[in-house]
Amino acid sequence: MTRLNGKRILVTGGAGFIGSHLVELLLRTYPDVEVITLDKLTYAGTLDNLTAVMDDPRHRFVQGDVTRRADVEAVLEGVQWVFHLAAETHVDRSLYDPGRFLETDVWGTFEVLEAARRHGVEGFVHVSTDEVYGSVDEGWAHEAAPLEPSSPYSASKAAADRLAHAYAVTFGLPVLIVRPCNAYGPRQFPEKLIPFFIVRALRDQPLPLYGDGQNVRDWLYVEDLCQAIRVVAERGQFGTVYNVGARNLLPNIEVARRILAVLGKPESLIQRVPDRPGHDRRYAMDWDRLRRLGWWPTTDFDQGLRKTVEWYRAHPERWHALESDEASRHFYEQHYGPRLG
Ligand code: NAD
Ligand code: TYD
Repeated sequence: MTRLNGKRILVTGGAGFIGSHLVELLLRTYPDVEVITLDKLTYAGTLDNLTAVMDDPRHRFVQGDVTRRADVEAVLEGVQWVFHLAAETHVDRSLYDPGRFLETDVWGTFEVLEAARRHGVEGFVHVSTDEVYGSVDEGWAHEAAPLEPSSPYSASKAAADRLAHAYAVTFGLPVLIVRPCNAYGPRQFPEKLIPFFIVRALRDQPLPLYGDGQNVRDWLYVEDLCQAIRVVAERGQFGTVYNVGARNLLPNIEVARRILAVLGKPESLIQRVPDRPGHDRRYAMDWDRLRRLGWWPTTDFDQGLRKTVEWYRAHPERWHALESDEASRHFYEQHYGPRLG
């Protein structure tokens, strides 16, 4: 018997990028589970992400807002496990609309934790982020490293992360916290670096590289990340934080070059633009604790990137990103110059 077999599971933010892959993984791995997806369907979420599971009788989609108690309460009945992913997730957006990040990422997490406590769940996986450590200019952040978030996004995520911890310590809620590095793969909203640059390059538009392009991120294929989240749920020690890394640290300029190489496009498409305000230089984590649970990434970057490029090539209907969003367009153009050309 495993922790998740036969359980009723709630996934918040399941119509988003990582959440939708997690919902698929849970239904594929456990024939006897029931999965409820709770998602507000903001600009970042869409039912198209759930096409593969919408007809599965073991899956139920509910549109709702994690900041609204009634919406959360309505889906918690009988739920034994919660995977909390719903959040505002893009750093650039958090620079021009920080309040929304506090509301969703902090208050929303509070409401989901409270409901889980009222209903006495068996497990609660809180999906945090490596960005809570702030810039790790050298070495590797261990789970016990201080949290020094630098954007409204990462500060909100850090607050939520510590609130989840507080519910474990104070109320004995069986919380597991994961702090993943940057994820990439099919179905990511094309405002984040990799899908944004793929879509731009497919259209022969310049790739706006912030600053000197030497900022470093650790890149993990989304299916590997979802396996890591599942492994932590199954084997993690309650009350513990697990970093999730990939040992695939790359400067942004190298990511841009590899995307162009896969697409056979010229490097002259790379265009330097002013730096992101408060731009973290490097994220890097020690994730030995997770490795000791038996998890290891299986998709190497070039293989993952090829799969991702193929998916975007095959889904031109998903190339829309900033065109339809006046507020974000205004912000970008103010800070980085015209980028839609
Ligand atoms: P995403 O932006 O693709 O999806 C977020 C989902 O949450 C969307 O479907 C959106 O509709 C939903 N949502 C937003 N506000 C909501 C609300 N008030 N109520 C209900 N649903 C709401 O994000 P993602 O990349 O899939 O990230 C998922 C989680 O993983 C987030 O908590 C994020 O902080 C974390 N994370 C992401 C990465 C990454 O590289 N993408 C890395 C580390 C951690
Ligand atoms: P992003 O995908 O926004 O993730 P995060 O900032 O949460 O790590 O950005 C990844 C890196 O790419 C980050 O260093 C900022 C940089 N970047 C660009 O250079 N140009 C862009 O257009 C975007 C969206 C990001």
